[in-house]
Amino acid sequence: MALIVLASDKGSPGVTTTAITLAAVWPRRALLAELDPTGGDVALRLRGPRGAPLSPEVGLISLAVGVRRGARPDQVFEHVQRLDGGLEVIVGLSAAEQGSGLTGLWGPVGEMLDRTPGVDVIADCGRLYPGSPAVDVLASAAAVVLVTRPSIDAVAHLRSRAGVVQRELERRPGRPPLVFVVVVTTPRDDGSPKQIDLVLRQAGLSVPVLGRVALDPKGAGLLSGEWVGRLDRSLLVRSTREIAGRLAERLAAPVGR
Ligand SMILES: Nc1ncnc2c1ncn2[C@@H]1O[C@H](COP(=O)(O)OP(=O)(O)OP(=O)(O)O)[C@@H](O)[C@H]1O
Ligand SMILES: [Mg+2]
Repeated sequence: MALIVLASDKGSPGVTTTAITLAAVWPRRALLAELDPTGGDVALRLRGPRGAPLSPEVGLISLAVGVRRGARPDQVFEHVQRLDGGLEVIVGLSAAEQGSGLTGLWGPVGEMLDRTPGVDVIADCGRLYPGSPAVDVLASAAAVVLVTRPSIDAVAHLRSRAGVVQRELERRPGRPPLVFVVVVTTPRDDGSPKQIDLVLRQAGLSVPVLGRVALDPKGAGLLSGEWVGRLDRSLLVRSTREIAGRLAERLAAPVGR
């Protein structure tokens, strides 16, 4: 089904946190794929059923080996682990050095995830620095969601990165993905998403701001291994659910795809 990529320009605005939450609240069956070339965080932050640690052996590396050997899209599930709570995940690299084994495979892994039957895949591609191998994944995506904070410097970097990403994707064969922005900001900050939307439109970019993910240290802490409350009612989950609804709607709409 659909591959949805989350990424940032620089800094750590909350791509991983937003990707985990988005996959958890996605309106259809979703699979979280950690495709950050600098290394994954899920196995370090979260646990499997009954608190068991996740296996570092089953995930992106084993999937890439399968892709190289010509695996079928339904075999993606052989590389999936389940988190406590049920979310299905393809665990990322333990360290960036492992990425050398994936040379030339990032694009084919993206294609495979796009064709995985019965699930939408939410992929954390980390920072889209120039030359990041994860850029090859974007070509198979239905949507690319750029995560940012609302500071002036972050928005300036976002604007140039969004332009580069859009131009790069339009040059590639096939239908380019829709590109969106999500702003991680305080729960009452309704202004920043609108202002950033305007900045991007004034720059001639068709990169709409989908909305805001609440800056919610307690909720985010729960996804960083600090088990101190209930996640399902957190501002993080509630705000991300709204984003999920809007994104799913945009993906379903025939216009603009
Ligand atoms: N919505 C949020 N509310 C509060 N804190 C957040 C939120 N999102 C992320 N954080 C915090 O910000 C820090 C960075 O988050 P995260 O790892 O998700 O960012 P990232 O963009 O994936 O970073 P990196 O580029 O290093 O992979 C973490 O401490 C996380 O708990
Ligand atoms: Mg991250």
